[in-house]
Amino acid sequence: MDLARVLPYTATVNNKNHLVVGGCDVVELAQEFGTPLFVYDEETIRENIRRYKEAFASRTQNFEIVYAGKAFLCQAICQLMMKEGLSIDVSSGGEIYTAMKANFPSERIYFHGNNKTEEEIDLALSYSVGGVIVDSFDEIELLEEKVKNRGKKLPVFLRITPGVIPSTHSFIQTGQVDSKFGFGLAGGLALKATQKVLESSFLELRGFHVHIGSQIFLLRSYARAVEVIMGFISEVKKECNFVTRELNLGGGLGISYRTTDEPATIEEFAEVLVEGVKREGEKHGLEIPKIMVEPGRSIVGQAAVTIYRVGTVKEIPGIRIYVSVDGGMSDNLRPMLYGAVYEAILANRVENGKKVKVTVAGKHCESGDILIKEAYLPMPRRGDYLCTPSTGAYGYAMANNYNRQPRPAVVMVRDGKARVIIERESFEDLVRLDRPYF
Ligand code: LLP
Repeated sequence: MDLARVLPYTATVNNKNHLVVGGCDVVELAQEFGTPLFVYDEETIRENIRRYKEAFASRTQNFEIVYAGKAFLCQAICQLMMKEGLSIDVSSGGEIYTAMKANFPSERIYFHGNNKTEEEIDLALSYSVGGVIVDSFDEIELLEEKVKNRGKKLPVFLRITPGVIPSTHSFIQTGQVDSKFGFGLAGGLALKATQKVLESSFLELRGFHVHIGSQIFLLRSYARAVEVIMGFISEVKKECNFVTRELNLGGGLGISYRTTDEPATIEEFAEVLVEGVKREGEKHGLEIPKIMVEPGRSIVGQAAVTIYRVGTVKEIPGIRIYVSVDGGMSDNLRPMLYGAVYEAILANRVENGKKVKVTVAGKHCESGDILIKEAYLPMPRRGDYLCTPSTGAYGYAMANNYNRQPRPAVVMVRDGKARVIIERESFEDLVRLDRPYF
């Protein structure tokens, strides 16, 4: 089993047969910080960012990497992205607020959402975010109203749904015509939105945005999306005399969750996007716009592992062995929502000859709370530390308090040092917002 595909890049095994990430023995981390615990390897995040920068820099001079904060956001991550010179895509008031608190440069924040509330828009404007990705006609009107007394135009991008359906779980496809996001090309809607923004005295059209979906393995959907959007950009030039200088092609590059997964690489992703834009640009006689991308999962996904403590182990003879851990659907909803499949290893007995087939269950009170249906592990025992790799994206980000389970702590590791970047929730935190009855 090639665990290197799913573990952080610094992962090794020490002489105690324990998993080591970022120079830290994860069993010791679990003992020090408790479980469940998210362990993020800083080097993996930085290496992925380096790869993105290099992959684009070697193909175009004009690009911008925008980290999709929804994958995992907290102030420490904002600070790391700031150090790396990345921009951030935010999709809620809470994400804007987090970036603001981290003193993230406002001009490098892009605000997304199909239903940005007035309060969120006010917050974005008060922090002078670098751009708003506009999703609907209603939003154009709302934004105009909000900024008409500001004295300067608000930079906006129009989100276009290109009618491309990538192969991924239907919940995370976004490029199709029937989508709650963006303006479709059919019936001239996208063109109409473009004209409306161009006529506006309060909005400044910076360019267009396309995001076709998430956890995508096959790059041909991107090639198709580029073809469609460049065709649209050409139409906009002819019809509106507008030269598009910025094009955001979204995120969505898939990662390995299983050792058998074979996602495209960051370099292949960059190649398809940049070469596609150049080729289509030439075809239509267009200038090559700045290419922006919004990766989330492919930057942080493989950077983290979750460590659980094994509690009960129950064998139903001839049927199944249930191994229950001290987390579950409260820290990783992906198996339940998308049928996502993860690997498991015992962090305190990594290499151990004989393996048995087990089902890793969470501790929540429903049968659907299964983290991994089929995992192959040395026979787990109460007190073992079970680790699920590739949990850095949309794990903590979608964590919840089902059964009033406190959300886990998150530590970042580097060079043998660990730092808590999100504290574990306490029971006190859970009741903090409760108020007495009448
Ligand atoms: N840009 C936009 C406009 C997005 O909506 C998303 C993800 C991204 C960029 C980043 O996509 P990524 O590179 O991370 O795939 N909860 C789901 C994923 C939802 C993705 C939402 N949008 C999951 O756990 O698979």
